[in-house]
Amino acid sequence: MTSTPAESSLFEPARLGALRLPNRLVMAPLTRNRAASDGVPRPIMATYYAQRASAGLIIAEATTPNAVGQTYPHIPAIHDEAHVAGWRRVTDAVRAAGGRMFLQLQHGGRVGHPDNSGLTPVAPSPVPLPETIHTPSGRRAPVVPREMTAADIRSTVADFATAARNAVDAGFEGVEVHAANGHLLHQFLAKGTNHRTDAYGGPVSGRIRFVVEVVRAVVDAIGPERVGVRISPGNTVNGIEEGDTERIHPALVRALADAGPAYVHIVFADPDQPLFREIRETWPGTLIANPVLGWGGPLPADGGRRAGERLLAAGADLIALGRAFLANPDLVERLRIGAPLNPVRDEYAMYTGGETGYTDYPTLAARHSRAGTPEPAGR
Ligand SMILES: Cc1cc2nc3c(=O)[nH]c(=O)nc-3n(C[C@H](O)[C@H](O)[C@H](O)COP(=O)(O)O)c2cc1C
Repeated sequence: MTSTPAESSLFEPARLGALRLPNRLVMAPLTRNRAASDGVPRPIMATYYAQRASAGLIIAEATTPNAVGQTYPHIPAIHDEAHVAGWRRVTDAVRAAGGRMFLQLQHGGRVGHPDNSGLTPVAPSPVPLPETIHTPSGRRAPVVPREMTAADIRSTVADFATAARNAVDAGFEGVEVHAANGHLLHQFLAKGTNHRTDAYGGPVSGRIRFVVEVVRAVVDAIGPERVGVRISPGNTVNGIEEGDTERIHPALVRALADAGPAYVHIVFADPDQPLFREIRETWPGTLIANPVLGWGGPLPADGGRRAGERLLAAGADLIALGRAFLANPDLVERLRIGAPLNPVRDEYAMYTGGETGYTDYPTLAARHSRAGTPEPAGR
């Protein structure tokens, strides 16, 4: 039976580490390419995130922990003082609006290009991305990444720790280590991209080593309650071929349990999958689940509410939604009262740099004051 709007467990408060969240809805990290070309967050980003401050938690978009880790143009960074100052404006605005934020730390590995970062990308093995990549001059052929040396591995682990400290200095409550969606950490986990014969490759215990070292370093830098880890078991985005999804992720989660971060966050979590249940049984901490809502098509009319409730019933603690938050600054209130949702507009507007498709999605209040009455369901 479907619950009536206000009854849902999605709107119950929850704890995450030392934080008290007013509801269980998390804004998933969403890359929007609105930073300046040097990675400094622009003021429009403060407006955008403050508009969404009623989320139980905001996980801010993928942000680069060191220069070579940059994926695309206009991705924010967090490795120098100007980045920290730029992000400080964003976290101040969100806090003033009553919200809480983590920052996602993303090193792209082979998902990068010299035209974007000025540097040759690095990766576990010299296996290029099997697709073209977005650059300021359009889509370009991928370059073969340089295989990371032991010294590169040590310095990258240290860069994640420094970036995490910077994030706390910038006013974030914590960071999410991005080990999902085909970026550097996922490249270490996956057989298709990790051909190493040293301690960071080969069997499951070798392929999880880098991720665990990064998470341990970040936990040591800012404390376990401020750290989460995002994983995407089975997701083939960015040409990733894990090879042994059912083995690598439970082993990783067991190792992470020893390292003690506050949460694990699963992309495309399906409560009917044995792997989801195994991770839930293995993971002692908070589990954030980002439901499967149909990728490439429109969102369900309820924005993911029913899918989120099913995941909570299956043991998830918090529910992350991406596109529904992108298009609905007041998503929590809309879901609470069962109001219609703004549809996600033209996909290109997601990445085009200005206000359009970014800060101009109306709240219910704005629509009502313009139109006098609510509009019918938009999707
Ligand atoms: C525009 C856009 C940007 C995204 N950027 C990121 C990102 O920076 N980091 C990440 O882990 N996932 C990213 N994702 C994936 C989302 O976090 C989320 O997993 C995905 O949209 C599925 O959730 P949804 O069906 O609720 O949108 C992005 C998705 C979209 C649509």
